[in-house]
This record gives sequence, C-alpha cells and structure tokens, in this order.
Amino acid sequence: MNGNNNRMRVGKYELGKTLGEGTFAKVKFAKNLDTGESVAIKVLDKDKILKHKMVQQIKREISTMKLVKHPYIVQLLEVMASKTKIYIVLEYVTGGELFDKIVSTWSRLIENDARRYFQQLIDAVDYCHSRNVYHRDLKPENLLVDANGNLKISDFGLSALPQQCRADGLLHTTCGTPNYVAPEVINDKGYHGATADLWSCGVILFVLMAGYLPFDEQNLMTLYKKIYRAEFTCPSFFSSGARRLIMKILDPNPKTRITAAQIYQNDWFKKGYSPAKFDKDMDINLDDIDAVFSESTDYMVTEERGVKPPAMNAFELISLSRGLNLSGLFETREQDRGPQKESRFTSTKPANEIISTIEKAAKPLGFNVQKRDYKMKLQADKHGRKGHLSVATEVFEVAPSLFMVELRKKGGDTLEYHNFYRDLSKGLQDIVWRSEKDGNSSPIK
Ligand code: ADE
Repeated sequence: MNGNNNRMRVGKYELGKTLGEGTFAKVKFAKNLDTGESVAIKVLDKDKILKHKMVQQIKREISTMKLVKHPYIVQLLEVMASKTKIYIVLEYVTGGELFDKIVSTWSRLIENDARRYFQQLIDAVDYCHSRNVYHRDLKPENLLVDANGNLKISDFGLSALPQQCRADGLLHTTCGTPNYVAPEVINDKGYHGATADLWSCGVILFVLMAGYLPFDEQNLMTLYKKIYRAEFTCPSFFSSGARRLIMKILDPNPKTRITAAQIYQNDWFKKGYSPAKFDKDMDINLDDIDAVFSESTDYMVTEERGVKPPAMNAFELISLSRGLNLSGLFETREQDRGPQKESRFTSTKPANEIISTIEKAAKPLGFNVQKRDYKMKLQADKHGRKGHLSVATEVFEVAPSLFMVELRKKGGDTLEYHNFYRDLSKGLQDIVWRSEKDGNSSPIK
C-alpha cells in the first residue's frame, strides 16, 4: 500500500485487502498511517450485531481479547467505532494459517515441528485458562504463524468467560467445529472449558503429525459416536511417546483426561520445551469497550474514502523546486531554460481546500475546470493567440501538512499562460505559503 490511491480510511488506518470473512465480521489488512505499522482490522456491522442480539457476546469477545496478552496470542491493539461499524484493531500476523503448512507443504509436519507448535499451543491455552478464559473453537484454521515461525492463536469469537457458567459451574453452549469438539460438549451435560480445550489441542496435535483428522465421518451422528468412544487409530509412523500422550488427551472421560499440569510433566512434551517469556502484569483498560457500544463519541472515528495526493520524494522535490530554496543544486539560468511553462507553489492548507480555491480563482478568469482526484485541467473558454490556453495542475504531498502545487501549460501561448498565472495568484493568496516566483522563499504577499 503506498497511500496514494482510492482506499478507505478509518481514523489513522488505511484499509487494504480482505484477509478473511465470517458471518458477523470481515478481517481486513490495514496500515497505520502515523507509524507505517501493518495491522489486521476486524470490521463488525453494528446493525447486524443488534439484530442478532449479539452485543453481549461481542463485548465479551473484545474484553477477553484485551485480557489476554501472550506472545502466542494475536494481540488486540485498540477498539474504535463509527456510526455504523465497530473496528477491532489486531496485531497483523504475516505467516498465514498453520493449517496451510500441513495442507500445502509437506502434507504433515515432522514430529519435532509438530511438538514445538503443540508446546506453544499448550503454553497459550494454559495461560488463558489461568485467567478463566476458554477458547472453545480451537482448530488449525484459528492458528496463525508469525514471521519468526511462532504460533499466534486468533479469533476468540466464541470464547466464554465464567459468567456463562450455570449454577453447576459448567459451560452449556454447544459450539465449535464438530471434528475438534470434546464429547462432553456434544452431549451438553455441561463441561469445563479447560478440559474441553485440551481435547481440541489433542486433535490438533494428531492433525499436525498425521495430516488428517482422528475423527472424520460424513454422517454427523457417526462422527459423534466415534468422538464419544474416542475411536481413532494413530498412524504407524507416530513415535510411541507421541502416541501415549495423544491417547491421554483424547480420553472421552473429562474427569480422567490429562490436565495441562500433567502435560507439562510428560516426557514427549518436555523435549526442547521452554516457556514463553513475557510481562504478565500489564495494565488493561476496558473503557473503550463500553464506549463503542454506547452513543458515546469517545473512540468514535470517521470513515472516508479518500484519494490522497501523491507523495513526492526528496529527489523529485530537489529536482523540481526553486520555490523551496533547494534550487541551487540543479539551477539552470532563466535564459537557458527559455520562458517558463511551469509554476509551483507550496501550501500548508489541506489538499481539498487547495483544489477548491484554485477552482474558485480560475472560473472568474474564464476557465472551464475539470477535476479528477488531485489533478485538475483548466481550459480557457476563449480562443487565444495559439488556440485555447490549457493548464494542468497537480497537488503533491511533500510532508504531512505540506503540499506542492504544480501548474503546467499544456496548450496555448506561453505569455498568455504567464498572465493567467499572475491573475490566478491573486485568488490564491490565502492558500499559498511559498511561491517560486517570490524569489525563492519569501511568503507571497
Ligand atoms: N487473518 C485473521 N486475523 C489475522 C491477523 N491478525 N493477521 C493476519 N491475518 C489474519
């Protein structure tokens, strides 16, 4: 993204291509125009959320994402709202889905690689559990890989905080992708989020190492039956250590299933394991979450589909400009250049104000004005000495809040062009900061 084209802007972010799409949200690539940082923005439609009575769930999702700060979890950076949309700004993860690594590259991972991802998965999931946050939709598609090849868990869309527990202290909503879901979630007798998440981690480990699912049936009832009974077979190439651990995780009885604390003690798991290092005691502010769902104008951003003026780099600037007093570097004498067919001035006014002021100044001089983005074509109504005088203008961004405006004769007589520019300048006094006709750097007066 170069910041020049017809892109949607939300606050300080310029939106780019769509990274993913779900029922309630679209995830878009975006760039922070202040810092150049890449982010992913989850865009939610306020009307849709209200219509489906999802306000509480979305609020919970956002609060959850704020509560968990871990190197292997996609970081929520900020939340913004416009009149119609909610924008959740997330850390951008460059390496794609872990699932793609299984599907496209080797069809399955070598055991050491699978173990490293599994160790990172358990690290992050156990950290969430320690904060009473359960993911409930763990599957390879929700696992991204960063530029360093480390895991990043995304999408807490269905995660549940303890307030969703009933009096029995168990969770009760059936959700998640059937192939990865624990048996006790399917039969809805209530389940503990932590043990159910660990089951999903077991299925993920199997898929990473085998390249296919342990439970996979076309018929949903047959699939559920196989899951209830934990009917699966490990391929012969699984090491005995991996096989033993997977059997302990894919235990259909949640009461006897291996716990995270026991997984940390498992010999196969321990090989090469080092826990992630990070700051566990960061301040977390949840003020913006209530604000984006209320009528409050705090955290409100404006959306604009803007075409930004093209940026001008230092070389272009130096080679062009006399009015910026950089001219000594490339100066040619007036008599060598011949009569000037171009003029430039700089302005600190916004680009759209520059355009409208030029338009207002040119029309009374008998010029027809055509505008496109940050370019204009001014054409004299009257026939001159060499046909209709025609002038092209373009606005360039030199630095934030500093623009260079170039006027160039396209057709007609050069002397007429000079007279036109002199007359036009009178109407531009409010926007011109420096003009090259001012003898380099004195403000036009
Ligand atoms: N797709 C969904 N969320 C993403 C993220 N945070 N970074 C990159 N791609 C994504």
